[in-house]
Amino acid sequence: MATRMIRTMDDDILRKKARTVEKVNRNILILLEDMAETMKSANGVGLAAPQVGILKRVVVIDVGDGLIELINPEIMSTEGKQVKAEGCLSVPGKMGEVERPAKVTVRALNRKGEAFEIEGEGLLAIALCHEIDHLNGELFVDKVIRFIDPEEE
Ligand code: NI
Repeated sequence: MATRMIRTMDDDILRKKARTVEKVNRNILILLEDMAETMKSANGVGLAAPQVGILKRVVVIDVGDGLIELINPEIMSTEGKQVKAEGCLSVPGKMGEVERPAKVTVRALNRKGEAFEIEGEGLLAIALCHEIDHLNGELFVDKVIRFIDPEEE
């Protein structure tokens, strides 16, 4: 396992649409492991492959309940809404309130290439939406209702 460099706002790759993973091969497994280590060492709760310079639809999330690995994740349904402060490892020093669904259901492939569904509420719902946005070249700053001075929090 190795940590990879986290790209920031000055890198156009963050604005590109990531490609579907056709086959969960060894490269994808290495990517998943490196992304988990990179997220952990940066104290993040989520990381999408474009953030480490790879335009593939791969996401890792850990909101404190264990590692979630998602390949080709898709939002199947959403419920309600919540407005909470968000930040992003690719946008250091910025935080802002974003409206997200209160609950989401996501379908993805696991590391064995098997389809599964995951439901998330609260912070997990936010992380799922935030990371899937990264796969489409979208950043939380595009959706901020109100920026927050990090000193305030
Ligand atoms: Ni982010």
